[in-house]
Amino acid sequence: MNDHAQTTLKREAGYAAADRVMTGMVVGLGTGSTVFYAMERLKARIGEGLFILGIPTSLQAAMRAREYGIPLTTLDEHPVIDIAIDGADQVDPLFRLIKGRGAAHTREKCVADAAQQFIVVVDESKLVRQLNAPIPVEVLPFAVTPVLARITRIGGLPVIRQGVKKDGPVITDNGNLIVDCSFGTIGDPEKLDQDLCSIPGIIDNGLFTRFTKKTLVIAGTSKGCRLLTSADIIP
Ligand code: A5P
Repeated sequence: MNDHAQTTLKREAGYAAADRVMTGMVVGLGTGSTVFYAMERLKARIGEGLFILGIPTSLQAAMRAREYGIPLTTLDEHPVIDIAIDGADQVDPLFRLIKGRGAAHTREKCVADAAQQFIVVVDESKLVRQLNAPIPVEVLPFAVTPVLARITRIGGLPVIRQGVKKDGPVITDNGNLIVDCSFGTIGDPEKLDQDLCSIPGIIDNGLFTRFTKKTLVIAGTSKGCRLLTSADIIP
């Protein structure tokens, strides 16, 4: 798929997600290029009279929301929210995800957890049979050396993410490091999620394994948007 085709599919998925938002809703605003299209469509709908409050998952999402005139609130004001819209790096057939290419997965997971519905917007290249991408892990700098050793001991190959156009490591919006951990094909994502979260010093990891029931995947495909819910996978 070339870049232009992929952009078109991302836009279609993002717009379809934004069209499910209703006035009065509190909406989690994910991070990344696909969610930008959802925000672009929300901007247009706000211009037509839609009223919503957004909860941004990153500085990037907050800046874009402000630029688009989307009023913002916080999880403190709204600990339960209507919908979270977010992208993903990989989605498996049970709607388990890898997220965190943009280093925002910890806040994204908090917002997804608070949402009654979690809408995942992707182009079809993100739909995979088995998760196998490196997992981004947010790590407290104080504990990075023992954390790297623990990740290696459970079979991962950890690499501290380096900045682009910035010397040294990526620092997250929360002031931590990102360690990208390759585990090859992930046979049991739930167990790996738990194993990673049990390591002191890991703030959170990019495996999203607990939201299947409330997830709607909107996948932009060459034949239009595919909408997938848990009803498609749970008998
Ligand atoms: C941000 O940290 C990520 O979780 C993104 O949501 C994810 O990488 C998807 O990004 P794109 O929509 O840009 O592919």
